[in-house]
Amino acid sequence: MDLRSSFSVILVFLVLLGLPGDLESGSPKSGSRSPKSGGGFRNFFRKLHIPRIMQPFYKRFKGTERLENGVVVITGGASGIGEETAAELYRRGAHVIIGNRNSDTCDAVAKKIKEQPREIVIKDGHEEEIKHGHIECYYLDLNQLDSVKRFAEWLLANKKYINVLINNAGVMLADHQVIEDTKTELHIQSNHLGHFFLTILLLPRLIRSGPSRIVTVSSKAHEYWRGGVIDFENEKALQMDPEKYSRWQAYARSKLFNIWFSAELSRRLRSHGVTTVNTYSLHPGIVHTPLYRNVKKWRWVGESLHKFFETGFMKYFLRTPKEGAQTTLYCTLSTDVKDESGLYYSNCHKKTPTKLAQDTAQHKKLWEFSMRKLAIAGVLEPGFYEESIYVSD
Ligand SMILES: NC(=O)c1ccc[n+]([C@@H]2O[C@H](COP(=O)([O-])OP(=O)(O)OC[C@H]3O[C@@H](n4cnc5c(N)ncnc54)[C@H](OP(=O)(O)O)[C@@H]3O)[C@@H](O)[C@H]2O)c1
Repeated sequence: MDLRSSFSVILVFLVLLGLPGDLESGSPKSGSRSPKSGGGFRNFFRKLHIPRIMQPFYKRFKGTERLENGVVVITGGASGIGEETAAELYRRGAHVIIGNRNSDTCDAVAKKIKEQPREIVIKDGHEEEIKHGHIECYYLDLNQLDSVKRFAEWLLANKKYINVLINNAGVMLADHQVIEDTKTELHIQSNHLGHFFLTILLLPRLIRSGPSRIVTVSSKAHEYWRGGVIDFENEKALQMDPEKYSRWQAYARSKLFNIWFSAELSRRLRSHGVTTVNTYSLHPGIVHTPLYRNVKKWRWVGESLHKFFETGFMKYFLRTPKEGAQTTLYCTLSTDVKDESGLYYSNCHKKTPTKLAQDTAQHKKLWEFSMRKLAIAGVLEPGFYEESIYVSD
């Protein structure tokens, strides 16, 4: 089949998917048919029982490590991979705090997690209930540095220890936007800068709570950044030209920043003699979550493509959120990686990221750029720079 005919077949397929007869993730719109009514091309996939051929390749974190009373802070933990990560850590006894910008959603997710059935194990011939942890929510919008600061201040005032910080929240393929506060492109702000700020605010507490871990959810998408070395002095290029804006490139760059940040943080910690805080960055796999919501906005093909993602068909090829949480759990809990720091992981294994991701000069420049952004936004307390770990090498 030549390129043209393949394109036509895909187009017909997408148009068929666009036909009425299905619902998107359980929120019926008036006039649409219920999934149980059986109509529609898309329901066809829901009823098919095709084996998930890739499943045997998805590694599961099999460790039995628990985090009894350990305090875990996770951003974006009320959806997708974050939700499954929070649920499993709760099951393993951790006190999980979800930073999320939709309080109602977060409360509902926390309630659902708390309602997990109790598990009984037999120990020394006696039945013993597995102790679950605690879970709570606090408002956090990574696009607003004031909100990040409030969240950190609340944590510092209320939690004596913080054992794990999971920088999980993320946005993908969003419209072009420059955040007012920091004059930063949206993907950099949400996926990197907000987390950068949160991390350095919590760092003294994480150091005091050692051994502790900082886990940053990056992506294989970092490999698709086509812009090469970043000139951090070129504000215009960093903000991206709205006329030539590429959603995919904006996302790829922010995910590259996640790896740079994690590696540079580890280097700075070690160069200041801190050996009790480890950092990890990771790719969770391609996971079926609401992260793809912005696909809807793609010109003529967006709606259909998004519907395609929502079909049961996709579950055969993508990881479930639970499967997607495994590498985060591995980096958070596994004793196998307790002596590693600053590295990148995928499918519960160490992985070498791209050459650019390993460019230490870029790691350092990103750090300086991020500190500059916070200073300009006026969110750092006077004297903050005296804490040498943040600025010196
Ligand atoms: N799914 C994949 O295939 C995939 C692949 C590679 C990497 N990842 C990474 O995995 C992480 C989790 O993504 P996911 O797939 O689980 O997607 P998701 O279900 O959409 O979860 C993302 C979470 O981040 C939150 N968030 C986004 N912007 C925020 C902001 N400004 N302030 C506070 N919270 C914010 C979202 O909250 P709202 O609901 O309020 O927007 C949501 O709770 C992301 O970092 C993503 O880049 C995912």
